Amino acid sequence: MLIALCSAKGAPGVTTSALALALSWPRPVILAELDPAGGDVLAGYGRGEMSAGGLADLALAARRGGPARHLDRQLLRLDPEGRARLLPGLADPVSARHVDWDRLGAALVAVEDGAIDVVADCGRLRAEHFPDAVVHRAAAVVLATGSTLRAVRSATQAIAELRERDACPGMLGALVIGPGEPYGEREISEALGVPVVGALPRDEKAAVVLSDGAPAGRLFVQSALLRAARTIASRLVESAAAHQSRVAPPPAPVPASVIAEGGSRVR
Ligand SMILES: Nc1ncnc2c1ncn2[C@@H]1O[C@H](COP(=O)(O)OP(=O)(O)OP(=O)(O)O)[C@@H](O)[C@H]1O
Ligand SMILES: [Mg+2]
Repeated sequence: MLIALCSAKGAPGVTTSALALALSWPRPVILAELDPAGGDVLAGYGRGEMSAGGLADLALAARRGGPARHLDRQLLRLDPEGRARLLPGLADPVSARHVDWDRLGAALVAVEDGAIDVVADCGRLRAEHFPDAVVHRAAAVVLATGSTLRAVRSATQAIAELRERDACPGMLGALVIGPGEPYGEREISEALGVPVVGALPRDEKAAVVLSDGAPAGRLFVQSALLRAARTIASRLVESAAAHQSRVAPPPAPVPASVIAEGGSRVR
């Protein structure tokens, strides 16, 4: 199942939240950094110590007609067991124009025939080269927003835009980062006209571990941020799956080039 996260404007914390969700995901998961403005996790959470070609190499391999099992080679472990893995984003945003988002979206939906979930950080909705084609294939599209009047207003416009673009046949929802400033989940859901999948509290100490690689103390996994992320991750898996089984759209065709040699799907 592919879950796409994006933001309206500002930097509400979509990358940090996507990473918190991936580390808390109840099933094997890939965090795919698809923000056309570039990836942040290697330099942030990875403190510059992790390296991989990631999305740029994958896009290059696809352009050369290579099978998408190249995906596996571009993944890094986010936890010791490898239950959560990372597809690092672009180091150079200029290369975003060369990414075939449709082909990539098809590959991400097909990972292990859907047995591995993908949480995609798609960045800001109005960015140039935004991965619309990936969002279009997602089981759920989640707009991350703050809870100030300013944030909720731009989130409302962004939801309308997603609807106008007919961008997401999947479930559409919102994730509140820092609720109560002053609006709460219910008010935001009413303003946006979509369900709020949950709220991640402001928790600077835990957030800087994720966004900037600050040392994770013993209490990191029990932090308010990660506890909320676990609840939201489980809820998202359930509600996106329920939505998918209700709507049951015909599966989007997978381009031949993303089928690995020998006919098996991406692993
Ligand atoms: N729940 C949170 N509590 C406190 N601080 C947070 C939280 N989430 C994110 N932040 C902080 O907000 C800042 C921006 O986070 P992040 O890079 O995730 O935003 P973004 O929306 O992905 O931005 P961009 O659009 O630039 O990619 C970081 O300094 C991060 O530590
Ligand atoms: Mg980001």
